[in-house]
Amino acid sequence: MSAQGNDRQGEHTAPSGDGDIHWAFRTTENAVILLDGERRILHANPSARALAERALPGQGAGELLALLPAGAWDQARDSGRWAGEVTVPSGIVLEIVVRNGLGMGDGVALHLVTFDDVSQRNARQAELQQRHDELQAAHHRLAGAQEQLLQSEKMASIGLLAAGVAHEINNPIGYVHSNLGTLHEYIGALFALIEAQDAALQSADPAAAREDVRAQRERLDIDFILGDLPKLLAESREGIERVTKIVQDLKEFSYLGRGDPMRPSDLHKGLESTLNIVWNDLKYKVRVEKHYGELPLVECHLSEINQVLMCLLINAGQSIDNRGTIDIATGAEDGEAWISIADSGCGIPPEALPRIFDPFYTSKPIGRGTGLGLAIAYRIVSKHHGRIEVASEVGVGSTFRVVLPVVQPVAADAQDQ
Ligand SMILES: Nc1ncnc2c1ncn2[C@@H]1O[C@H](COP(=O)(O)OP(=O)(O)OP(=O)(O)O)[C@@H](O)[C@H]1O
Ligand SMILES: [Mg+2]
Repeated sequence: MSAQGNDRQGEHTAPSGDGDIHWAFRTTENAVILLDGERRILHANPSARALAERALPGQGAGELLALLPAGAWDQARDSGRWAGEVTVPSGIVLEIVVRNGLGMGDGVALHLVTFDDVSQRNARQAELQQRHDELQAAHHRLAGAQEQLLQSEKMASIGLLAAGVAHEINNPIGYVHSNLGTLHEYIGALFALIEAQDAALQSADPAAAREDVRAQRERLDIDFILGDLPKLLAESREGIERVTKIVQDLKEFSYLGRGDPMRPSDLHKGLESTLNIVWNDLKYKVRVEKHYGELPLVECHLSEINQVLMCLLINAGQSIDNRGTIDIATGAEDGEAWISIADSGCGIPPEALPRIFDPFYTSKPIGRGTGLGLAIAYRIVSKHHGRIEVASEVGVGSTFRVVLPVVQPVAADAQDQ
């Protein structure tokens, strides 16, 4: 220990004999030790002695100075100040500050050393840090859960879509299959007739066999077959074309353009392929009316806009209990294109209107809606720098209008891609 002197004596040796300063030293709650230029203790206040008792049981305030690391005094001399933290064997953490200066009036060099027990503060800080880490971990978990939910909503949409598509494809495939069965029978009859004709031609008297062939032709119902065959083929071709169209729509609908730049796209085409996909859900109770205007090509990720339209069409369908109409209108003005989907459904109460875009807000029974449809739609449309406007009246219906800029703003566009 480089400091010398007895701190108990020091207490009575005021540096300047000034009573006020003496009183201030005595009463401050900070542990303070004042030393002269030779590092002899001039004064150690009661707080310093109490701290020494607590941190270094059985020792005096002077021993506190021994806690200063080598170099602390030199640094204080060179730069006027040294500060650091020291942990004593009992576990208490002390923040120590050494200041160098000149005594008032006499200009004698002095050292002022203050000690602060920061164990509790550090413990609180550690606790806060731990809470912060826990909160951050919880936040990460929640973000992950949200992502999973969004994913499962997508899966639910895909499930719905798959069910609809399966149904739509099943119908044409069903009648093409049945037509193939009929064709098989027709071909059997035609082959039988050809064989009868061959046999007649090769017989000794073909003219005599004519009546047999005619009877065979009547029995096999060949006239009916000849009339029905073209119809059967046309119907089957139509069925196959319908399946091809649905598969094409599905491909277009689910095309993942992630990372691709937005492309000028035909919103009417997107609307039609989406309608085709949700048609199975709508066709039994909804009459769809279309009032399409002129639309320029709109810069967007069409598959994402299709997802928005699907959400709006499904919601519109679900809002109609028995029978109703969905009116789809489109138009463009002032550099913006819009698609509006108006239903004659139950409508949205005014108090619910501000919440419908909130994730998980749903008025539907458990298992029917997750309340993510509009939240996702909102996110997609915002990403396209557009907006969704809603007007609704309970008992009358709701109109959702998606408005998109025809051309994406340049700077923001660059960010998105
Ligand atoms: N066309 C509409 N008519 C009446 N209410 C609607 C309509 N569209 C949305 N809503 C209301 O907004 C709520 C939220 O819609 P959103 O599409 O986000 O979720 P959801 O349809 O309930 O569930 P899902 O996640 O399956 O789409 C609905 O539950 C409904 O109360
Ligand atoms: Mg929905």
